[in-house]
Amino acid sequence: MCGIIGYIGMQKASTILIEGLKSLEYRGYDSVGIATLDHGRIRIRKNIGMVSEVADSLKFEEMEGTIGIGHTRWATHGVVSEENAHPHFGKSEKIAAVHNGVIENFAELREEMKDHRFRSETDSELIPHLIEEHLDGSFIDAFIKSLKKLEGSYAVVAVDAAEEKLYLARKNSPLVIGIGKGEMFCASDIPAMLKHTRQFVPLEEGDIAILTRESYQIFNHDGKTVIRKPITVKWSMEQAQKSGFPHFMLKEIHEQKHTVSESLAANVDKAKKLIENHERIDIVACGTSYHAGLMLAYLLSKKGKNAHAYIASDYPFIAKPDEKTLMVAISQSGETADILQAIKAKSSGKIAITNAVGSSIARICDATIYMNAGPEVGVAATKTFTAQLAIVFRLAYEKVPEPGNLIETMLSKEDEIRKIAEKLSKKEHAFFLARGSNVPIAYEGSLKFKEITYIHSEAYPAGELKHGTLSLVTEGTPVIALAPKDETTAKLLGNIKETKARGATVISLTNDANVKKESDYVIDIPVVDARLYPLALAIPLQLLAYHVSVLRGINPDRPRNLAKSVTVE
Ligand code: G6P
Repeated sequence: MCGIIGYIGMQKASTILIEGLKSLEYRGYDSVGIATLDHGRIRIRKNIGMVSEVADSLKFEEMEGTIGIGHTRWATHGVVSEENAHPHFGKSEKIAAVHNGVIENFAELREEMKDHRFRSETDSELIPHLIEEHLDGSFIDAFIKSLKKLEGSYAVVAVDAAEEKLYLARKNSPLVIGIGKGEMFCASDIPAMLKHTRQFVPLEEGDIAILTRESYQIFNHDGKTVIRKPITVKWSMEQAQKSGFPHFMLKEIHEQKHTVSESLAANVDKAKKLIENHERIDIVACGTSYHAGLMLAYLLSKKGKNAHAYIASDYPFIAKPDEKTLMVAISQSGETADILQAIKAKSSGKIAITNAVGSSIARICDATIYMNAGPEVGVAATKTFTAQLAIVFRLAYEKVPEPGNLIETMLSKEDEIRKIAEKLSKKEHAFFLARGSNVPIAYEGSLKFKEITYIHSEAYPAGELKHGTLSLVTEGTPVIALAPKDETTAKLLGNIKETKARGATVISLTNDANVKKESDYVIDIPVVDARLYPLALAIPLQLLAYHVSVLRGINPDRPRNLAKSVTVE
């Protein structure tokens, strides 16, 4: 949510900022703006809309200067409007800043600055005003003094008309420095800078930094220098772009033929030992990652552990770790605010499962397992979900069965899935059913479906059908049954028949002859070790959601109202 990009170098800043903002689009936003510094003067252009529309209509490219900051805003404080878009000036036009996060005490602080004229309703505008208020010596002193007054979360980049420097700070909101030759970058995430560099310094909580063309310096809140080692990232730019696919989501679905094996090879030794040594395991996650968390909880419970998956935002209200509890945080972005909040609790140990090297969650935990799935741009998680499943399997099973060409086989069913998608694209509801360890996949299939098709869908452990949902099943209601042959099939078949008797259109993912007989459409699942079925089932459900979305004229990469990285609670 909200994206930040900053540049200081010899190239035209506006060009770099526009490119950077485009690659941050997946985070979700409603307005865009940039500021450039040219001959001691800061100019800002900003408006509501998509990056390319706003950049074209306001002629960003005409803005001169080799220093600049840019922002994509996802409204939290104040409506979607030009005034509320970032960057914001301070009292005068000598300081401009962009901000990601939420300043909780902004109303009190605004009250203290009665003589300032605020142009927006945002909490963010306060930041350049505060800096200006404190500016009676060096900019860095004023910056630090201002940051000390802020409660809440922030990633801030500020520019001062009097200096050729960028000022950065982070607290509970991501910000990464990119190191170039004679130029420096900063952004909310790494892909926004990948075209220019592979060397990055992710800022840590409370870090404050100054960028010049040649150097970066990092301080703590007392102004003391802190040393942060750069990391080198191997992702290619191509990996971060569409590679000929019409959407990032489809590209990322297809990438699973490589990413699953990369994730299966992740280093889980330390985390596995921690799991072995703990009886109680609390798993916290959100969205898609929560479904991977449910799978981990199911599999560890089967082994006799006291393992539970919690929705991270509710965890503080319903559970509390004790000194013997191990916490596991699952998050593709590693920056989800609800998870960061949940894992603040004191526990005996913390494991992170994330795709983001150097992310906040990775830094807080004692053991981090990186998913190795490469950058995921589509808002709807796909390859990071199967990466999480692969890691869950590694943590739960002594030895994970070899998937062989299972992923390729599932991907090869895309044409038949597209035909089924045509039938589904005109429906208003859909139900996903499964039993046992396939239930988290039904939840995930349903989430993916509603996220990007805007069709109402629900998922149920099939045994629950007759306790409520069956009343909604009428002639033509789509029921998607996850029914590969395993210990649950006989009972699931009974549930499928119950829906069929009420006129449901049954689409089954199965390799069972009896289930096939009851189904209107079948997506064939190969016979493999039953432990691999969740992986096999996840892929056709992603393809189904994708094709229904496209058939309905929706852009699956950018579903309405949703953001890839949810950095506010
Ligand atoms: C957002 C994304 C989802 C994701 C969830 C949790 O809602 O749109 O795809 O599953 O956040 O994100 P995380 O980065 O913690 O896995």
